[in-house]
Amino acid sequence: MPATSVIGAQWGDEGKGKIIDLVTHRADVVVRFQGGANAGHTVIVEGRKFVFHLLPSGVLHEGKLNVLANGVVVDPEVLLHEVDQFESGGFSLQPRLALSGAAHCVLPYHKLLDQLREGDKAGVKIGTTGRGIGPAYADKANRCGIRFWDLIDEDRLHRRLAANLADKNRLITRIFEAEPLEFDDMFEQARDQGRRLAPMVTDTGKLLREALAEGKHVFFEGAQGVMLDLDHGTYPFVTSSNSDSLGIAAGTGVPPTAIGHQVGVTKAYCTRVGSGPFPSELHDQTGERLREGGGEFGATTGRPRRCGWLDVPAARYAAQICGFDGLAITKLDVLSGMDQVGLCVGYDVDGKTIEEYPVDTPLVERASPIVKMFPGWSEDLGGARSVEDLPPACRAFVDEICGRVGVPWELLSVGPGRESTIVREHP
Ligand code: IMP
Repeated sequence: MPATSVIGAQWGDEGKGKIIDLVTHRADVVVRFQGGANAGHTVIVEGRKFVFHLLPSGVLHEGKLNVLANGVVVDPEVLLHEVDQFESGGFSLQPRLALSGAAHCVLPYHKLLDQLREGDKAGVKIGTTGRGIGPAYADKANRCGIRFWDLIDEDRLHRRLAANLADKNRLITRIFEAEPLEFDDMFEQARDQGRRLAPMVTDTGKLLREALAEGKHVFFEGAQGVMLDLDHGTYPFVTSSNSDSLGIAAGTGVPPTAIGHQVGVTKAYCTRVGSGPFPSELHDQTGERLREGGGEFGATTGRPRRCGWLDVPAARYAAQICGFDGLAITKLDVLSGMDQVGLCVGYDVDGKTIEEYPVDTPLVERASPIVKMFPGWSEDLGGARSVEDLPPACRAFVDEICGRVGVPWELLSVGPGRESTIVREHP
């Protein structure tokens, strides 16, 4: 049985959580392969709202194995908080959660440095989530990070933490002129976290390769989206990992050929949080209408999301990079009641009309959108269970998106609950 990936095709917050939750009943294993507690997936099950930052969405389904693979940067404090929260909500997690020993820990100095950097007037303000993601990946690339293998070995933890903290405190005090962090408290906290997490720490690469060899169905759950990818997104206004499907192999230790089916998730419009170019952003009442109608406030930080029309060239670029087999188009219901709905179909850059996403960030910054308007619909879509239930204008809009992006739809989401979904071909 093929492995499946579910990847955001925009700047994150596409509604991946709901899609993954929906298809998870077909999965045996659900895997996060990149990012960390910067993600925020909201899933509504029978009216109960769950917000995940680290845990894979499969945790809500009994009998699924959930994996935090080596490419994830894991804040042990957040992870234990989520584990406690879910267990007190009646879900048992411990035997169903595996954490890679090769995953890097996000420690208090990463979070502090993330916030100090963002607050530094001389630096570029990325608008990060402040969760220590960039500094943790920087340590990984700099080969000084602390992995979960280290966290559960007290001697190694002591040595590595002491060396790291001395180094970080020099940065904190001399460059940012802030108060240094204390070693003893940090060590004791990390040691205790390591003791609690130790039963879950394992070689998840081996576990996943074996699962695939046994024909188990593995789901790779993307966080953020292609346009926030460190290599292919709007650098430097990106996250610090490969948040497209190219990150799966390196972030898990399975071969790229293992991924059989790829679903790209896109909203019927577009949002972005944090700084960086967003050509189809609407600064007017229509943008406000999308934000209010779609409840577009960050799941992790609560920040209002910037809103605009769906950017077709960017979505096509995302599809080409990942090789999407199908699209999941979410939040179609939010567009109900608008006289007209728009798509950004190209850009004007320095007086030239282009139809391709321009890639180089300053060009994306200078791109003004070419927007094509289509007839809207007034009907509430919440009860639609098949494509025939959708108003003709909505169907035409979906066809327009798929035709222009070059990928057929597989799922259409018409409301927040699991049941408000139209499925064409189950991924
Ligand atoms: P970081 O990942 O916290 O370093 O933030 C880098 C950029 O990615 C910022 O613009 C964030 O707003 C954005 N970002 C990070 N995680 C998410 C997410 O889950 N959804 C949407 N944007 C995100």
